[in-house]
Amino acid sequence: MNENRKKIVVLSGAGISAESGIQTFRDSDGLWENYRVEDVCTPEALARDPELVIGFYNQRLAQVLKAKPNPGHTALVELEQKYDVRIVTQNIDDLHERAGSSNVLHLHGDIRKKRSQVDPDDIEDIIPLEKGIQMGDLDRYGKQFRPHIVFFGEAVPNIEPAAKLVEEADIVLIIGTSLNVYPAAGLMYYARPDAKIYYIDPKAESAKGLDKRVVCIAGKAGTAVPEMVRQLMEEA
Ligand code: OAD
Repeated sequence: MNENRKKIVVLSGAGISAESGIQTFRDSDGLWENYRVEDVCTPEALARDPELVIGFYNQRLAQVLKAKPNPGHTALVELEQKYDVRIVTQNIDDLHERAGSSNVLHLHGDIRKKRSQVDPDDIEDIIPLEKGIQMGDLDRYGKQFRPHIVFFGEAVPNIEPAAKLVEEADIVLIIGTSLNVYPAAGLMYYARPDAKIYYIDPKAESAKGLDKRVVCIAGKAGTAVPEMVRQLMEEA
């Protein structure tokens, strides 16, 4: 490990997985066009109708299992040859890991896992993944397992380690997020004053409330990320 390598933190959102066939949330025909957040992504929804919530996330899991990493995910792996790369993702899919990225921190959970409703540290793999979480799959307290997803209204346990990574970064790459959801959307503000910040998203230029330093690159992850990576590899 070369300690002098520059540090890159990638802040990724649903847009990086769009070209892999995974629906985003807020684009036209995004998930939140067809479902109400309060029906499927809150602790109250889970208490009221666990079958609906668990079924919704089993569908998300089925979609993820069919998807493959795209050139946006794989280009980020190449960066590890010359940089210390940390990925902080809002995504619950495992496409960064399957592409081969070494350091991935999930802010909003991991669709491949289930969690006890009693002990938040009891997190287990869903086995077999194809079946998803079954109704009647109980934790050691005899309570139904829930998806390992951070619901709206819940704390984001990984936000502190994520903020620390951003504080240490020389370069921050924000990719494919509408920057609507906090605290994730505020992470860029932890960057040092001399850090370079790039924002790759088809709608980058219309984003509001961006840090003044942010360089916007309007484009799709599958093409704009490999281009950015080529540039960064030359600069390293
Ligand atoms: P959104 O659906 O809010 O935003 C998706 C972003 O991806 C938009 O800015 C699009 O312009 C962009 N996009 C679409 N296609 C793209 C492509 N091919 N390449 C690059 N960008 C593209 O998704 P997030 O910002 O990730 O949380 O949403 C944040 C959180 O809201 C999610 O983690 C999820 C959701 O509710 C929970 O469920 C807790």
